[in-house]
Amino acid sequence: MDGFGNNLQHPYPLKGSKGASLPPRPTLVFLIALFGLYVCYLSFNQIRMESKHVEENGAQEQDEHVCAKPYVPSEELPYVHFPKPKGYSRAECSCNPVRFFVIVSMQRSGSGWFETLLNSHPNISSNGEIFNRVDRRQNISSIVQTLDKLYDLDWLTSAAKNECTAAFGFKWMLNQGFMDHHDEILSYLNKKGVSVIFLFRRNTLRRLISVLANNYDRDAKQLNGTHKSHVHSEEEAEILAKFKPELDVSTLVSNIRDVEKYMGDCLDSFNTTRRMILYYEDIIRNRNVLFQVQEFLGVPVRKLVSRQVKIHTRPLPDLVRNWEDVNSRLNRTEYARFLDGADYVK
Ligand SMILES: *[C@@H]1O[C@H](CO)[C@@H](O)[C@H](O)[C@H]1NC(C)=O
Ligand SMILES: *[C@@H]1O[C@H](CO)[C@@H](O)[C@H](O)[C@H]1NC(C)=O
Ligand SMILES: *[C@@H]1O[C@H](CO)[C@@H](O)[C@H](O)[C@H]1NC(C)=O
Ligand SMILES: *[C@@H]1O[C@H](CO)[C@@H](O)[C@H](O)[C@H]1NC(C)=O
Ligand SMILES: *[C@@H]1O[C@H](CO)[C@@H](O)[C@H](O)[C@H]1NC(C)=O
Repeated sequence: MDGFGNNLQHPYPLKGSKGASLPPRPTLVFLIALFGLYVCYLSFNQIRMESKHVEENGAQEQDEHVCAKPYVPSEELPYVHFPKPKGYSRAECSCNPVRFFVIVSMQRSGSGWFETLLNSHPNISSNGEIFNRVDRRQNISSIVQTLDKLYDLDWLTSAAKNECTAAFGFKWMLNQGFMDHHDEILSYLNKKGVSVIFLFRRNTLRRLISVLANNYDRDAKQLNGTHKSHVHSEEEAEILAKFKPELDVSTLVSNIRDVEKYMGDCLDSFNTTRRMILYYEDIIRNRNVLFQVQEFLGVPVRKLVSRQVKIHTRPLPDLVRNWEDVNSRLNRTEYARFLDGADYVK
């Protein structure tokens, strides 16, 4: 981004010629008058150049001249945008800067809930899992095309707030092409000025239980014949939580290790982004984390709310059919910390 301050040199030659003896008076008057004319000519030229400059650089440049620039720390300037959607006008908010963001997460890590929290803010628009459609992530060119369209703000979903959106993004699961094309995606995000929120779950064991329970419900459709990944009432949560999956103990440790490595590789690959690393458990325990998120996104800080209700609220032994086996398998491993990890609040 440029367009901040123009760098024209001072046009007037300030240094006089030293040591010359003064010419006669009429000549002096004439010279001064001539100099005056020259100054006028220079200024006139400069004005003409400036207006030409504005015309050539089109609407964006012009808007920046008209808009009172909000204060943005210089290191954040690459992450602040003034998009011009084709489908609608940003109207009275066209001078408000917009931050682009992406929530990078894994299935069953609370990202759906997190997104409903963000969308309860009038200036945040998070547009769901746009890469769940395979054709949008077929290859890096279809990914880039999708991202470009999205960040032009010409992407209308139910999360759209239109003109007064100040933070615009979506969520992206690691297994939706994100890690397959990580080099290209990294350079895209940095070039485009996209801020990244990583949202993971510390307790990989609980996540695994949630994955299995959700897979089960996909077939069983326990809520009156519909499959639900997220629920809005305690009754619904209770019905879904009744199912206790049985974990495959023989692959449990390698399964957890793979997931941990996947998250670690992701954080390494994207360590040069403007980013914030969040854990689901931390948000549950301390809602102040949500204030930090809003500061990170440059929106006015307020209380965020979600209508979603947590499904698995019980201690772990109540959630798994073969708890004894699971406990003794993990008990003496580095993953023993997951066994008593309570992420529920009552
Ligand atoms: C990328 O995928 C799209 C379909 O999403 C396809 O139309 C296009 O031909 C592919 N491009 C390349 C370079 O493979
Ligand atoms: C947030 O949205 C409101 C209208 O809903 C608008 O008045 C305000 O300027 C917006 N704030 C930012 C930072 O864009
Ligand atoms: C299922 O349907 C019955 C009757 O139609 C209704 O009373 C009940 O609330 C529904 N349950 C859920 C979990 O949607
Ligand atoms: C990012 O991670 C790589 C290892 O994957 C490391 O070499 C590099 O120093 C890290 N960069 C930053 C800025 O932390
Ligand atoms: C680990 O297992 C041993 C024996 O099975 C048991 O005595 C101990 O209490 C277990 N520790 C935890 C933290 O569950």
